Amino acid sequence: MLLMKDIMQEGNPVLRKRAHEVKLPIAEEDYQSLREMMNYILNSQNDSMVEEYGLRPSVGLAAPQIGISKKMFCMHTYDESGETLYSYAVVNPKIISFSEEQTYIPSGEGCLSVDEEKNGLVSRAARIKAKAILVNLDTLETSEVILKLSGYVGIVFQHEYDHLHGILFIDKKKETISGVKPVIFAEDEPTAE
Ligand code: NI
Repeated sequence: MLLMKDIMQEGNPVLRKRAHEVKLPIAEEDYQSLREMMNYILNSQNDSMVEEYGLRPSVGLAAPQIGISKKMFCMHTYDESGETLYSYAVVNPKIISFSEEQTYIPSGEGCLSVDEEKNGLVSRAARIKAKAILVNLDTLETSEVILKLSGYVGIVFQHEYDHLHGILFIDKKKETISGVKPVIFAEDEPTAE
């Protein structure tokens, strides 16, 4: 299983590379990487695993963060209403449209590859449309989809997508954001890791 020591940290050049397309059909080693990434996220949302293994909680993890410069990431989180789970293993995503309207997480974004002290505000598209291959990690079935995401899960997707282009949230971080509606959470505010 992946631990924090396996997560590349800011300063590591792999985090600044543009990742390569995943070759199709998806190879066994790429499925394996997706499973490992998803398992890290799931473990990091389990209090006893967090305590036992010193995991930083997360909702997303991109392949470059584990040293693999390929276009794939996983995300596993509820939307801001707390009602709908978005659990995706994503391959070769392409965001095909960004809304002009922006939004942001009022408690700021964070990233497993960046010190927690650097968490901060990032303005992102309120809605995106993306083309991607989604992998069902139980059956290994793949499907080519068009995703329309808005609000918090759209932000998480954009954060992970940036990792595939060598971009970290700290590149976009602002001291204050004005004239933009924040995401409003029904319960406690998570961060996009
Ligand atoms: Ni990140």
